[in-house]
Amino acid sequence: MRSFEELSNAFLTQFNTGHFPAEPASLYQPADYFLGLGGKRIRPVMCLMGNELFDELQPDAFYAATAIEMFHNFTLIHDDIMDKAPLRRGMPTVHEKFGSSTALLTGDVIFVVAYDYLNKIKGPHLQKILHIFNRTAREVCEGQQIDMDFEKVEQVSLEDYLRMIELKTSVLLAASLQIGSILGGAGDGNQQHLYQFGRCLGLAFQVQDDYLDAFGDPAKFGKQVGGDILSNKKTFLLIKALEVANPSQRRDIRELLETNPADKVSQMLSLFRQCGVDAWANELKEKYISSAFQHLDDIAVLSVRKTPLKELADFLMQRDY
Ligand code: IPE
Ligand code: IPE
Ligand code: MG
Ligand code: MG
Ligand code: MG
Repeated sequence: MRSFEELSNAFLTQFNTGHFPAEPASLYQPADYFLGLGGKRIRPVMCLMGNELFDELQPDAFYAATAIEMFHNFTLIHDDIMDKAPLRRGMPTVHEKFGSSTALLTGDVIFVVAYDYLNKIKGPHLQKILHIFNRTAREVCEGQQIDMDFEKVEQVSLEDYLRMIELKTSVLLAASLQIGSILGGAGDGNQQHLYQFGRCLGLAFQVQDDYLDAFGDPAKFGKQVGGDILSNKKTFLLIKALEVANPSQRRDIRELLETNPADKVSQMLSLFRQCGVDAWANELKEKYISSAFQHLDDIAVLSVRKTPLKELADFLMQRDY
C-alpha cells in the first residue's frame, strides 16, 4: 500500500506533462499557468487509493485521476470568477491575470481535455465511470449555483448549508474514491461504503475550508482570508453565529451583511469569536469524520489496506492550506 506522498508523486510524474497544443497561446498558457500552480492533488490521489484498496494500481486509474484533477481545476477557475477571488494557491487567479473571458474559456477547455483522458480508459468500466463522472459534474454545478443563491438570502439553515456543500464539494471526493474502486474491481457494496466515506470526509473537508477562509493564516492559506465574509457566504460560521448570538450581536451581524463597511472582515471575525463559532468548527468536523470512519469500517477488505485512507483523513482535518 502506498502513502499519500508516494501516490501523489506517482500521479505527478504522469500529470506534469504537456496537455495542450501551443496555439493559441492566449488560451493554453493560462491553462498551463493554472495547472502548474500545484494544489494538494487530493482527488486524483483518492482515485488511486480507491483502486489500491482492492487491487494493484491499474494504468486506467491514472487516466481517471487525471480527468478528475482536470475537472477540479476547471471548477476552481470558474469558482474564482464567481467568488471574485484574487488569489489561489498563493498566486493571482486566472481571471485576475488574464481577464474573465479568457478564464471562462480556459476552464472550458480544461473540462473538455478531462474527457479526452476518460476516453483513454481501456478496461470494461468506462460507461459506468462516465455515468458517475457526469452525475457528479452536474451535482457540482447545482451546489455552486445554490452557494451563490445563498449569498442573496438573509438566512439559511444548517441543513441547507450541508446539502449545498455536499453538492459543491463532497460528491467529487466521494466519486474519486468510487471510480478508483471500480477500476480495482470492487463490488457494489464496497463501492457504496467507500463513496459514503468520501462523502462524509468531503463534508468535513468543506467545513475546514470554510473555517480556514475566516480564521486561516494568510501566509499559509494561499487564498484571500475573509473572502467568504466579503461575499456574504452562508457558511456554518455565519449560520451558527446567527443562531447563538444575543439580540445586539445579531443586529450587528445583520448590519454588517447589509452595509459592507471597510473593516467588515475584522468586525465579523470578532463577532464570530464572541459567539464561539470558531470552536464549534471542531465539533462539526468530528461528527463527519466519525461517520466517515464508520463507513470505512464497513468496507470488506483487510484493515491494513485502509491505512492510507485513515492517514488521508487525518491530513485533511489538520491542514492549514
Ligand atoms: C478547493 O479544493 C475547493 C474546495 C472544494 C474547498 P482544494 O483545497 O483541494 O484545492 P487545491 O487543488 O488543493 O488547490
Ligand atoms: C468551491 O467552494 C467548491 C468548488 C470549487 C466546486 P469554495 O468557493 O469555498 O472554494 P475555494 O475556497 O474558493 O477554494
Ligand atoms: Mg471560492
Ligand atoms: Mg465558491
Ligand atoms: Mg472556500
